[in-house]
Amino acid sequence: MREIRLVSQTAGLPRPSDFEIVETPVPDGDGVLVRNLVFHVFPGLRILVGAGDTETPLPRLRPGDTLVGAAVGEVVSAPDDASVRPGDLVSHWLGWREYALLPEGQYVRLDGKLPDPAAHLAPGVAAYSALTREAPVRPGETVLVTGAAGGVGSLAGQIARLLGAGRVVGTSGSPAKAARLVSEFGYDAVLSREDASTAEGLRKAAPDGIDVVVDNVGGDQLRAALRVTGEDARIALVGTLAAQLAPEGSAASATVEFDLFELIRKRTSVRGVLPVDLESGAEWTRRFGAWLRAGEITFPHTRFRGIESAPRALEELMAGGHLGSVVVEV
Ligand SMILES: NC(=O)c1ccc[n+]([C@@H]2O[C@H](COP(=O)([O-])OP(=O)(O)OC[C@H]3O[C@@H](n4cnc5c(N)ncnc54)[C@H](OP(=O)(O)O)[C@@H]3O)[C@@H](O)[C@H]2O)c1
Repeated sequence: MREIRLVSQTAGLPRPSDFEIVETPVPDGDGVLVRNLVFHVFPGLRILVGAGDTETPLPRLRPGDTLVGAAVGEVVSAPDDASVRPGDLVSHWLGWREYALLPEGQYVRLDGKLPDPAAHLAPGVAAYSALTREAPVRPGETVLVTGAAGGVGSLAGQIARLLGAGRVVGTSGSPAKAARLVSEFGYDAVLSREDASTAEGLRKAAPDGIDVVVDNVGGDQLRAALRVTGEDARIALVGTLAAQLAPEGSAASATVEFDLFELIRKRTSVRGVLPVDLESGAEWTRRFGAWLRAGEITFPHTRFRGIESAPRALEELMAGGHLGSVVVEV
């Protein structure tokens, strides 16, 4: 089998030369053997494969380690007491390799809940959790989604619309992506990064103020959004793209300075999003499946073919080359 390993840790954005494709025996031993079908190439890898010693949400990778990421695969063999049988589809964390050996408890059986197995890689639970729990949207409200063209943002706009938002505004660094977000993915207006970084720019697209923010970017965009939000606004902190995909630095911290008086006066609520509870995950999968089958939502993504294309897929993701998520069909 083949897998992709880290060769060197870079200070800036990772390059394909930081990775190598290696032939290695199919893993053997206790556990469920899975043949991977598709895996997710996600922006958080920038921090995990980069140089540095700061604490990261997931363990850092070191040279020689195989890369990781959400994957969907088909069970090849399983011990008699396992909860799956050969042929079942499972999701798990050991992408970037053709076969994975998974101990009990480290995979989830998929049961055909979504029409396309790749849709299980959609990062929508963060957006869904934000809009139903950390920053719940009420009918008719205005929602701002920063980083609207990313995997999370391209679903967040559609979800906000389905949950009854009155106006959905996004931000994107690309005019071409902005046009598609409006014509295909439920946005009323999409601002450039420059306009999105000032209160004046944001007010142009949200003249009546903003009630809910799903923030994937941080930095200047979050600061401007906090100025424009009205009373009792809800801010869900989902990601840190401005720091995470900056060409320089380790991307391991994301700082924003703002005036607390303003937040207190407007009774703004700010909450981080980390949907680790099983309930929000199950609820999202159930509703996502129903919306997909009804044709009410799409999973915007680009598919690369062949495991050897994965380093290039990561490079293009970091360069903002695609709208939506990036996945690799093994
Ligand atoms: N809290 C959670 O549970 C959770 C779950 C999933 C993801 N996340 C985080 O949420 C964020 C979004 O994830 P994602 O999967 O949507 O990301 P993604 O798909 O990788 O987003 C890529 C997009 O980010 C935009 N971008 C690139 N550099 C930027 C910069 N300097 N400033 C602003 N935007 C920039 C580009 O879009 P444009 O060309 O349009 O600018 C690019 O296409 C990430 O920080 C991720 O780690 C959090």
